[in-house]
Amino acid sequence: MRTASTPVTAADEAGIAAAARIIRQGGLVAFPTETVYGLGADAGNAAAVARLFEAKGRPRLNPLIVHLADFAAAEKLCLFDARARKLAAAFWPGPLTLVLPMRDGAPIASLVTAGLKTLAVRVPAHKVAHALIEAAGVPVAAPSANSSGRISPTRAEHVRQALAGLIDLILDGGPTDVGLESTIVACTGGPARLLRLGGIDRTAIEDVLGEKLVVDEGGERPAAPGGLASHYAPRAPLRLDVTEVRRGEALLAFGAALPPGADGAAPVLNLSKTGDLREAAANLFDFLHRLDEAAPAAIAVMPIPQDGLGAAINDRLRRAAAPRPSDGST
Ligand code: TXA
Ligand code: MG
Repeated sequence: MRTASTPVTAADEAGIAAAARIIRQGGLVAFPTETVYGLGADAGNAAAVARLFEAKGRPRLNPLIVHLADFAAAEKLCLFDARARKLAAAFWPGPLTLVLPMRDGAPIASLVTAGLKTLAVRVPAHKVAHALIEAAGVPVAAPSANSSGRISPTRAEHVRQALAGLIDLILDGGPTDVGLESTIVACTGGPARLLRLGGIDRTAIEDVLGEKLVVDEGGERPAAPGGLASHYAPRAPLRLDVTEVRRGEALLAFGAALPPGADGAAPVLNLSKTGDLREAAANLFDFLHRLDEAAPAAIAVMPIPQDGLGAAINDRLRRAAAPRPSDGST
């Protein structure tokens, strides 16, 4: 139930101190990371984590990522094998989440892991996120700060539109850099497994490991690996890989050469006129939010190359285009 609006505060020293206090007291704070905005709660406080699931309308079977200030803090909660150590050394702080065996007695509420024996941990590369986690002094559970199944937020305003009245504070640190969520890799014995494509390109990870990742794309719904869940979804249906725009459609474009029918499309938003996949990733969710507001009959999406971050962009677009459950609650 929405009872009151939620304050939006600059992510300065005073704002971060207030946010840290709220987290320590069991409240919910949205904060910027380099990937997307997260919705943070004290990972050891079961009541706070329960409220977090409720605010997002998130199924309780879907576990959360715990955000930490540094490797040492992660090592207190999880067991790192040699592969996990290599990956943490290469990519932390940064947009990589590791799913690892959780240590016995780790002070993490069981709702965070949805009862699993593994824990997802990440050390974000964003100065506000880092300062907040340090000031809170507790592991911070933080899913993306959107309603479950909808578009992830890359700006404080996106969070406000989705969650105002349901959470205690929004720290505004400006638009996020990467724009896609972290890549998720599980190191739980044997070869490392890729659970979600994201801000770090798969080949960069394979280069560090010196071996291929096993692909297991069940990361969105670990209980049903491989399922193409509807997610990241705007209200209007998406039509992917279009070569011709139909009447009444909006166009999500990529590159300089637009398809036939583009003249009649409204609005036209170009992820990157120069065909730069980093720029496209950073714009993706913001443009989906804008298209959502424009409420066209449908959204035509041009093909995006599959290399580098393109694989993660295409993953998000496919999920956004997937059939929706009637209750919208995946
Ligand atoms: O970039 C990010 O990762 C952002 C920012 C806020 O850090 N967070 C994020 O959280 O994307 P969320 O909750 O939207 O996505 C977390 C994903 C889910 O797909 C969940 O199923 C998976 O992580 N996950 C969490 N714990 C897991 C575990 N123990 N085993 C397998 N998957 C897990
Ligand atoms: Mg999410």
